[in-house]
Amino acid sequence: MPHILLLGATGYIGGSVLDRLLKIQKPDITISVIVRDSDKAKKLATTFPGLDVHNKPYEDHQLLVDLASRADVVFNCVKISTSLYHNIISSLNITGQCR
Ligand SMILES: NC(=O)c1ccc[n+]([C@@H]2O[C@H](COP(=O)([O-])OP(=O)(O)OC[C@H]3O[C@@H](n4cnc5c(N)ncnc54)[C@H](OP(=O)(O)O)[C@@H]3O)[C@@H](O)[C@H]2O)c1
Repeated sequence: MPHILLLGATGYIGGSVLDRLLKIQKPDITISVIVRDSDKAKKLATTFPGLDVHNKPYEDHQLLVDLASRADVVFNCVKISTSLYHNIISSLNITGQCR
């Protein structure tokens, strides 16, 4: 079952990517998102019931590793600081998803 991990789904670019993904979504595709803000996470989960929403900070390295290791494709649309960048990229490197 194809699994997509989208980072930054609440942003301008990430929101557009999510919109595109949902339009082409087939029933067997899982789309996971990580959202740091609880209100935004609830809104996304309510608006898109099939979305796999994780309300966690991007500093949660283990969550990133777990989700990235299960994903076939990762879209990183987060506006990131240098430290966050290293956390995200190292997670993707560990799981072999950094392309
Ligand atoms: N917009 C453009 O036309 C454009 C063009 C070329 C390149 N880019 C690049 O694309 C990236 C995204 O741009 P954008 O316009 O979509 O930005 P944006 O609308 O400000 O969205 C930023 C996204 O990153 C998340 N984010 C930022 N800091 C975070 C943190 N510390 N922890 C967790 N999540 C964090 C935001 O989450 P919250 O909702 O929780 O804040 C949001 O989902 C940027 O690197 C930008 O430079 C943008």
